[in-house]
Amino acid sequence: MNDKIEILRKKQEEALLGGGKARIESQHKKGKLTARERLHFLLDEGSFEEIGMLVMHRSTDFGMEKERYPGDGVVTGYGTINGRLVYVFSQDFSVFGGSLSETHAEKICKIMDLAMKNGAPVIGLNDSGGARIQEGVVSLGGYADIFYKNTMASGVVPQLSAIMGPCAGGAVYSPAITDFVLMVENTSYMFVTGPNVVKTVTHEIVSSEDLGGASAHSTKSGVTHFACSNELDAINHIKKLLGYMPQNCEENTPAYAYEPGDELRLKLNDIIPENNSQPYDIREVITELADEASFLEVHKDFAENIVVGFARLAGRSIGIVANQPAFLAGVLDINSSVKGARFVRFCDSFNIPLLVLEDVPGFLPGTDQEWNAIITNGAKLLYAFCEATVPRITVITRKAYGGAYDVMNSKHIGADMNYAWPSAEIAVMGAKGAAEIIFKKEIAAADDPNASWIEKEKEYSDIFANPYRAAERGFIDEVIEPSETRKKLIKAFKMLENKVVNNPRKKHGNIPL
Ligand code: COA
Repeated sequence: MNDKIEILRKKQEEALLGGGKARIESQHKKGKLTARERLHFLLDEGSFEEIGMLVMHRSTDFGMEKERYPGDGVVTGYGTINGRLVYVFSQDFSVFGGSLSETHAEKICKIMDLAMKNGAPVIGLNDSGGARIQEGVVSLGGYADIFYKNTMASGVVPQLSAIMGPCAGGAVYSPAITDFVLMVENTSYMFVTGPNVVKTVTHEIVSSEDLGGASAHSTKSGVTHFACSNELDAINHIKKLLGYMPQNCEENTPAYAYEPGDELRLKLNDIIPENNSQPYDIREVITELADEASFLEVHKDFAENIVVGFARLAGRSIGIVANQPAFLAGVLDINSSVKGARFVRFCDSFNIPLLVLEDVPGFLPGTDQEWNAIITNGAKLLYAFCEATVPRITVITRKAYGGAYDVMNSKHIGADMNYAWPSAEIAVMGAKGAAEIIFKKEIAAADDPNASWIEKEKEYSDIFANPYRAAERGFIDEVIEPSETRKKLIKAFKMLENKVVNNPRKKHGNIPL
């Protein structure tokens, strides 16, 4: 028996070394951790249980039968993060560059199946040269199997992807389907085709980092939600993110200890500038409303005219979607609509109540926006709110103009509670533009057109630049002092805790894509 145990131990030792010491050293030299080191930092100490440690590839072309490594380039299994079950896969770049073989894919699919059956998140740590070139179509089939599982798991369990090295070609589509993508600055990149292909086809000369590094994808494309300064930072972000989420779509979010205190936030009474075209940072409002230091911003550097992220209110998770008057006056455009819509849908999938802070002058005008389909893209945000069944509360802090008023979680599209601050202006458009259109003839005929315009602007403003018309109609449930907002929100979300809405039965909706 001892001999047999010895054989097992040898096999395990071999597997722990992945592609061997030299390749591990080369990984470290690039400033990267190994697949196992990453799991060590990610999971609670001693919680990791590996599945499929001895799996090997079956390929025999190109002399591959002589090069076989137990584990086949991916470490898979389960463990806990802060005591909560998670399933993990971590690609091992030291084995064939972490490339994806048939068996490598099978290992990932196996843990995804377990995650779906048992209702716990899947975390993928990606570091791979893509499809195992020696295996040809078999490895492509493996990718497709993963994409299919990702899609089936979407909305069932949270799926998080951290990109810790290369992720190119077809490999990008698994992270793209998952809920959150994190990238590590300078050591990771994602692209469908790399710089060489780009140069051949479009004659553009671009580095891997510029084309698909963390900075490009966190600011320009929005493919990644978090650009992390190093691998440990990415791992910490994963742990933090999970803290706001339930384990699966049937559960509620975790509740954190919370001591009720003085919920008045007097600072909020002075946050809106006297001049209504003056910007202010909506993050200051969020900081005042949320539990201390609980706000985790998502997609921070992309489409900055909308701010989205998770926070806690009286110890419970909420998702926040807020127009940002400090960037492009908080206008809605293509990117901010898509960013907001995706976040709303994630929250709705996983029972995370939504808080909307609204200060929006409308949609961004222009040919660029129209020709790139602001109509279709704006409709995504509208659709996402309309179909969301989680508790939904809106606070209008200042402007709520035009179609954007409807879109931003208005009462009409299913919001449960709609508050407005006394500074709210709820109208079809700003008073200046409105006066110019509806009093055009009077202004033109006046002895002093400028003075007439100012007078008409005031007339329109007196009627609509306030929250009271909407409150009279019941579109606003209550006009509140800003300082009382946190108190009101805590009570209202508590009141909505058991909300049940059943949308009409259907196969699935057809969100404008
Ligand atoms: N299939 C099989 N083996 C692969 C591989 C793949 N897709 N990608 C990398 N490898 C192997 C390399 O042969 C090398 O093996 P070795 O350790 O025995 O020498 C090892 O992984 C490391 O690759 P290397 O090229 O030395 O690393 P690098 O850091 O310099 O470059 C990449 C990394 C990913 C940029 C580069 O390996 C690459 O371009 N790979 C191919 C990407 C691709 O086109 N994939 C298919 C499309 S999805």
